[in-house]
Amino acid sequence: MYVCICHAVTEEQIKDFARAHGCNWRKMSRELKAGTDCGTCAIKAKRALKNLCTQVKPADASN
Ligand code: FES
Repeated sequence: MYVCICHAVTEEQIKDFARAHGCNWRKMSRELKAGTDCGTCAIKAKRALKNLCTQVKPADASN
Protein backbone atom coordinates (compact mmCIF):
# COMPACT_ATOMS: atom_id res chain seq x y z
CA MET A 1 0.00 0.00 0.00
CA TYR A 2 1.30 3.44 -0.91
CA VAL A 3 2.02 5.85 1.91
CA CYS A 4 3.49 8.60 -0.27
CA ILE A 5 1.87 9.07 -3.65
CA CYS A 6 4.25 11.80 -4.85
CA HIS A 7 7.27 9.51 -4.56
CA ALA A 8 5.49 6.13 -4.76
CA VAL A 9 6.74 5.03 -1.34
CA THR A 10 5.07 1.94 0.06
CA GLU A 11 4.72 0.62 3.60
CA GLU A 12 6.98 -2.25 2.54
CA GLN A 13 9.74 0.18 1.53
CA ILE A 14 9.44 1.94 4.88
CA LYS A 15 9.61 -1.42 6.64
CA ASP A 16 12.70 -2.42 4.66
CA PHE A 17 14.30 0.93 5.45
CA ALA A 18 13.55 0.52 9.17
CA ARG A 19 15.10 -2.95 9.14
CA ALA A 20 18.26 -1.73 7.46
CA HIS A 21 18.71 1.74 8.92
CA GLY A 22 16.58 2.15 12.02
CA CYS A 23 13.67 4.39 12.78
CA ASN A 24 14.99 7.86 12.14
CA TRP A 25 12.30 9.87 10.34
CA ARG A 26 14.65 12.47 8.85
CA LYS A 27 16.97 9.82 7.49
CA MET A 28 14.06 7.87 6.03
CA SER A 29 12.56 11.00 4.52
CA ARG A 30 15.90 11.96 2.99
CA GLU A 31 16.46 8.50 1.52
CA LEU A 32 12.95 7.59 0.33
CA LYS A 33 11.73 11.19 -0.17
CA ALA A 34 8.43 10.48 1.61
CA GLY A 35 6.89 13.75 2.74
CA THR A 36 9.28 15.92 0.75
CA ASP A 37 6.95 17.05 -2.02
CA CYS A 38 3.34 18.06 -1.25
CA GLY A 39 3.78 17.02 2.39
CA THR A 40 0.30 15.59 2.82
CA CYS A 41 1.70 12.16 3.61
CA ALA A 42 4.13 13.31 6.30
CA ILE A 43 1.94 12.48 9.30
CA LYS A 44 0.85 9.19 7.77
CA ALA A 45 4.44 8.26 6.85
CA LYS A 46 5.74 9.14 10.32
CA ARG A 47 2.98 7.05 11.87
CA ALA A 48 3.75 4.16 9.51
CA LEU A 49 7.45 4.33 10.39
CA LYS A 50 6.67 4.38 14.10
CA ASN A 51 4.21 1.49 13.82
CA LEU A 52 6.49 -0.57 11.60
CA CYS A 53 9.44 0.05 13.90
CA THR A 54 7.57 -1.69 16.69
CA GLN A 55 7.24 -4.74 14.39
CA VAL A 56 10.77 -4.98 13.03
CA LYS A 57 14.13 -5.14 14.72
CA PRO A 58 16.32 -2.49 13.12
CA ALA A 59 19.85 -3.53 12.21
CA ASP A 60 21.14 -0.42 13.95
CA ALA A 61 18.70 1.02 16.47
CA SER A 62 21.04 3.90 17.35
CA ASN A 63 20.03 5.91 14.28
S1 FES B 1 2.14 12.31 -0.94
FE1 FES B 1 4.10 12.23 -0.02
S2 FES B 1 5.00 14.13 -0.51
FE2 FES B 1 3.11 14.15 -1.51
